[in-house]
Formats: sequence, C-alpha cells, structure tokens
Amino acid sequence: MTQDQAKLLAARRAMEFVSDGMKIGLGTGTTSTLFIHELGKAVRDGLSIEAIATSDESAKLASELGIKLTSFQDTPVLDVNVDGADEIGPGLALTKGGHGALLHEKIVASAAKKFIVVADDTKVVAKLGKFPLPVEVIQLASPLVIRRLKDLRLNPLLRMSANGGKPWLTDEGNFILDCHCGQIDNPEETAAEIRSIVGVVEHGLFLGMATLALIAGEKGVQELDR
Ligand code: A5P
Repeated sequence: MTQDQAKLLAARRAMEFVSDGMKIGLGTGTTSTLFIHELGKAVRDGLSIEAIATSDESAKLASELGIKLTSFQDTPVLDVNVDGADEIGPGLALTKGGHGALLHEKIVASAAKKFIVVADDTKVVAKLGKFPLPVEVIQLASPLVIRRLKDLRLNPLLRMSANGGKPWLTDEGNFILDCHCGQIDNPEETAAEIRSIVGVVEHGLFLGMATLALIAGEKGVQELDR
C-alpha cells in the first residue's frame, strides 16, 4: 500500500463519523484534501452539512465541490473537525503546520466537540520532534522571536516560498519559523516556552486537542484515542 492509498483509507473512514445536519471543520493538507473530496461526493449524493475550513485553499476546494461554508458568527460550535497531522505522539499529542495552516487549524479544532485526526501510519512517533515544529510569528517581531527561539536551542529557520525569493506567508500574512529542534521530551514545557515569546502568534504543538486518530496502513485503519 502506498502512502497516498493509506491517506485515502483514513479519509474514507472519517466519513463514518459524519452525518446529516452536522457542522464540520475541514483541515488542510493532502489527507484533509482527500477527506474534503469524499465529503463533496456525499454532499452531491444528498448529505446536508455545513463546514468551516482551516485555510483559504481548503475553503476554495470545498466551495468548488458544493460544500456549504459557514462562519463562527453563525456556527460557534462544530460537531467534528477532521484534519491531518505531521506527527502523532503519545496521548494524541500532535505536530501540525507543515502546510502552514496551524493557526486556523488550532482555532477550528478548539471550536469542535470532536477532533478526528486522519493520517497514514508513518505519522505515528514515540516522541515528537523529528518533523520541524512550525511557529507562526508577526513579521515585525520575527528577528526577536528567532533570537529567543535560538536561546531555547529550538533551531528556527524562516520558511521561504517555493521560488525561494521571499518568506512564505500564512493566510494571516504572518511568517512561519520551522524549528528543527529534534526530539521534544516535554511538549507542554516547550509549548509554554514558545507561547511566552512576544510576537509568537501560535505554534504547531496541538496538545490535549485531538480526541481520535484514524491511522491507516497495511493492516487497515487503526483507531487511536487518548
Ligand atoms: C497543515 O498546516 C498541516 O497541519 C497538515 O494537517 C499536516 O501537515 C498534514 O498534512 P498531510 O496530510 O499533507 O500530510
């Protein structure tokens, strides 16, 4: 089974947690994109749901597929949020933000009664940290935040756009610093240290947020809970 096939399997399993009338959070990234396509097919077949997307990219795709989008003004509570992850550690501690949408992803996750992670089994780790930890920062503060993150030995690198010339910008117009910190022994402590730096908007550690992970691999889909 390829990684893409596993992602599709997880996305399809997530559809079992969706029912008529639900308000749904839509993640960002390749696995979430597969889920949005599955949801779009179900909507075409008559499923009635409303959604809030975690990025402009996912919102655009959802609209194109006929998925009705709502807002937090009208829908402050979501029934379920379905999103991918870059790493899934013990207790469903996650690293997210590989596609740079961590801020909106965390906001949407915080509004959901259930947060279901969809991923292939390469994402499951014994300890977080191999995947660089993204930190979203206000542009003005970025040199200061870089200094502080270096002091914490988190090894930040400014994310650049694909053509390399300019820093990559989030949907909010902020920069992303990818922290090549290596193994994170105490995610709560690391999260608190990063959070305390003025100019940091959000970081990619999602702790105590996910309620279930659907992990797909050779043996099918495994359900992990906290
Ligand atoms: C988006 O910013 C991320 O949090 C994604 O959810 C994460 O990078 C997983 O992406 P893939 O499904 O593409 O691996």
